[in-house]
Amino acid sequence: MARRTKPVRVGVIGAGRGAMFAQSYHVSPDSETVALCDRDAPRLRVAAKQLKIPGLKLYTDLDKFLKHAMDAVIVASDGPLHAEHTCLALEAGFHVQSEVPMDYTQEGCTRIIETVERTGLKYMFAENYQYIPHMATLKRWIKRGKFGQVVYAEAEYVHDVRNMDYRDDEGNYYTWEEARKHPKAKRAWRSGVHPISYITHSLGPLLHILDDRVTQVSCLSTGCHTAPHDGNPDAEVAIFKCRSGAVIKILCAHSIASPGHNWCTLLGTKGSVVMPRGTATLPAVYFEGESKPHTWEPIPWDKINAKLPPEAKKWGHGGSDYFLAGGFLRAILEDRPIPIDHYRGADYTIPGIVACRSAENGGLLMPVPDLRPDVRNNFRVRKANVQVGL
Ligand SMILES: NC(=O)c1ccc[n+]([C@@H]2O[C@H](COP(=O)([O-])OP(=O)(O)OC[C@H]3O[C@@H](n4cnc5c(N)ncnc54)[C@H](O)[C@@H]3O)[C@@H](O)[C@H]2O)c1
Repeated sequence: MARRTKPVRVGVIGAGRGAMFAQSYHVSPDSETVALCDRDAPRLRVAAKQLKIPGLKLYTDLDKFLKHAMDAVIVASDGPLHAEHTCLALEAGFHVQSEVPMDYTQEGCTRIIETVERTGLKYMFAENYQYIPHMATLKRWIKRGKFGQVVYAEAEYVHDVRNMDYRDDEGNYYTWEEARKHPKAKRAWRSGVHPISYITHSLGPLLHILDDRVTQVSCLSTGCHTAPHDGNPDAEVAIFKCRSGAVIKILCAHSIASPGHNWCTLLGTKGSVVMPRGTATLPAVYFEGESKPHTWEPIPWDKINAKLPPEAKKWGHGGSDYFLAGGFLRAILEDRPIPIDHYRGADYTIPGIVACRSAENGGLLMPVPDLRPDVRNNFRVRKANVQVGL
């Protein structure tokens, strides 16, 4: 049996994004990475060579991996497999941190929630963008009433991932055009999915800072023009009504000839903020009574970004992965509540799943269910009676 040197032993499923977590959880003072699983042996070998973690046990078989002595499992496998892998890990007795989205189906999300409720284990939804340093400042300003009541918010996640539509067994990604020349390249899970179903990086941080959830959605798709051979919708835009009455608009584009950005703006009864996009370089605010009338006031980054501890710089996505992992580890070690739990994960994910149905129905306004236990069953009854089309 491997000698235990740190309190939380972590195992990781998926050697792509998962390799980053394998590395980062290993350098954390509270955890060590003890096992890595990927069904593609060549990719597993490449990742292990780069990771250089002494004693790291490698698995290509998920069932054998789930028998390894560990405390927590990081699910970083193909998006459509999240519910299956999360539930297997929970059933095997491990706490789980799962990559985004929670799953690509409402049934998958419900299965995760019911398994967490039954097992009593911890489930952390790994939405890292809510930990991007300026989000903490925006949340503080909202709490202090600097914007008055935020009545409208908007976010955009534009990330052209056509270069990840195909993959070989070693983990090299290809575009559709490149894949024609690489016989080992196979179509990957990202290809052909609705971009709006990958909504948690844009919607999640807004729901976090507004402390809100979505109740209704209408969504339109541009159709497939940029990558029609794979049926990738270019871009999708959804408008949401929230419990608070606020309206949110989200654009997600994954097959589009545009440089990427993750952008947001908030409009309130007393003030507004706009993050930079395109060639703009600074965020800007407008506070009624404080700012020059009708004039945006640029804000230097060090005034809007929360300060990062030096150790956060070792983690990915501008240090946000550090806070994410810290929340998960503290919840396990000190038995604290999980910062983004199974219900919140569903709040961030389900709106994108329903938005896909809305887009497939020409923008039909649709209800977004709450998967908390007291209301979940009501929704099931209502769905059976009213034929809302979910
Ligand atoms: N939060 C973020 O910023 C961020 C960034 C990148 C990716 N992601 C998410 O992380 C997840 C992984 O992304 P990726 O880019 O690494 O994808 P990927 O397709 O490159 O890697 C997924 C890996 O999972 C492995 N896998 C699938 N089924 C398996 C099984 N049964 N047993 C063992 N291994 C299995 C695959 O072989 C593959 O190597 C996705 O859900 C993605 O949405 C999140």
